[in-house]
Amino acid sequence: MAKNSANGDHQTTTKPPPTPSPLRFSKFFQLHSFFSADTSDENIVNELALTAIVSANVLYWIHSTPNMRILVTGGAGFIGSHLVDKLMENEKNEVIVVDNFFTGSKDNLKKWIGHPRFDLRRHDVTEPLLVEVDKIYHLACPASPIFYKYNPVKTIKTNVIGTLNMLGLAKRVGARILLTSTSEVYGDPLVHPQTESYWGNVNPIGVRSCYDEGKRVAETLMLSTTSLFLMIDIYAFATEIRIARIFNTYGPRMNIDDGRVVSNFIAQALRDEPLTVQAPGTQTRSFCYVSDMVDGLIRLMEGDNTGPINIGNPGEFTMIELAELVKELISPKVEIKMVENTPDDPRQRKPDITKAKELLGWEPKVKLRDGLPLMEEDFRLRLGVSKKI
Ligand SMILES: NC(=O)c1ccc[n+]([C@@H]2O[C@H](COP(=O)([O-])OP(=O)(O)OC[C@H]3O[C@@H](n4cnc5c(N)ncnc54)[C@H](O)[C@@H]3O)[C@@H](O)[C@H]2O)c1
Repeated sequence: MAKNSANGDHQTTTKPPPTPSPLRFSKFFQLHSFFSADTSDENIVNELALTAIVSANVLYWIHSTPNMRILVTGGAGFIGSHLVDKLMENEKNEVIVVDNFFTGSKDNLKKWIGHPRFDLRRHDVTEPLLVEVDKIYHLACPASPIFYKYNPVKTIKTNVIGTLNMLGLAKRVGARILLTSTSEVYGDPLVHPQTESYWGNVNPIGVRSCYDEGKRVAETLMLSTTSLFLMIDIYAFATEIRIARIFNTYGPRMNIDDGRVVSNFIAQALRDEPLTVQAPGTQTRSFCYVSDMVDGLIRLMEGDNTGPINIGNPGEFTMIELAELVKELISPKVEIKMVENTPDDPRQRKPDITKAKELLGWEPKVKLRDGLPLMEEDFRLRLGVSKKI
C-alpha cells in the first residue's frame, strides 16, 4: 500500500518495492532447486525448509497480490487492441503494450491511455526489450498481405528476431508467452479441413512466403525453447509457451483499406463501389469474429496446453458467397466484379477445431451474418457514411 510521508514542505509518496508475481517467483524457485547439486543431509533439510517457506510465500502471493503484469506486443493493432480491452476489464491486470505503429494506431487504445493500469510504449520488437512481466501475448506482425509484402525482409525480421527477443524476455523474467501464429502455415492446403498435425503446403519462394515462412520459423523457435525440443527434460530451462494458429478474423478496427477481403467488401459496399472478388471466387475462407478470437487466445494462455491449436470459425464461405452476403446486408444495389487473383492465394481454408473444443472448451459463438453488421457500424463511423433510411 502506498503511504504518504512528510519531507520538508513536500509530500512524497513511497511504495514498497514490487514483489515478483506468483508465476515469476515459481520459476526462480525451480531454477534454485535445479542448480543445487549438494545432496548432503544438511542441505536436503535446508532445501525442504526453503521449499516450505517458498511455497507459503507463493500461496500468500497468489491469494494476496495476484496482480498480473501482461505485455501485449502489437497491442495497437486490430486483434491486439480488442485483447487489451478484455484484459483491462480484469482489475487485477496491468497491461503494457509495445507497438511500432506500422499498421496499428493509438486511436485503437485511446480509451486506456492515461489509465493507471495501462502503459503504451513505441517499440519495435526487432530490438531487445526488458520489462518485468508475467505473461506475454506476442502479436506484433503485420497480418494483411498489402503490409507484410511492403517490406518482406522486415516481415521476416519481425517474425524471427522479434520472436527471439520476446522469447529471450520470457526466459529472463520467467513469463509465459503466447505466439499468434496463423493458418498461413498450412499454405495452400492439401488437407481439408486443416488439423494441427498437417504440415502444410507452403511455397518458400513466393510473394507470401515472408509471412508464411516467418510464422513457421516463429513456431519452431517457440517450441525450441521447451523441454520437448531441448532433449533434456529439465523444466527449469524451458519457457512456458502457447501457440495459437489464427484463421481469418474480422471485426471493428480493422484497417479500412488493408486488402483483407472482409474489410475490402464492407468499405466498397459503403462507398457504393463494386465488390471486387478475386478469380475464380470459389476459393473459401472461414471468418471468426474478433470477440470469439480474443476469448480463444485468453483460454489458451490460461490453460495447460502448449499448442499449436487452431483458433477460427469452421463456417466456410466462398468469396462469392461472402460478397453476396455483404451486398444483401449492406448495399443490395452494389455490383459484384471479378478481378485477377494474386499469386499463391490459398484455394481453401477451414479450421478443424476439435482440439480447441476439447482442450480449451472453446468454440466460436458469433455467426458471420451477425458479426458483419457490427463491423459495418464501425466502418460507417470511420468513413463518415450514414445509413440510408
Ligand atoms: N487478423 C487475422 O485474420 C489474422 C490471421 C492470422 C494470424 N493473425 C496474427 O495475429 C496478429 C495480429 O493480427 P492483426 O490482424 O491484429 O494485425 P494488425 O496489423 O492489425 O496488428 C499488428 C500490430 O503489430 C504491430 N507491429 C508490426 N510489426 C511490428 C514490430 N516490428 N514491432 C512492434 N510492433 C509491430 C503493428 O503496428 C500492429 O499494431 C499477427 O501476429 C497476425 O499474424 C491475424
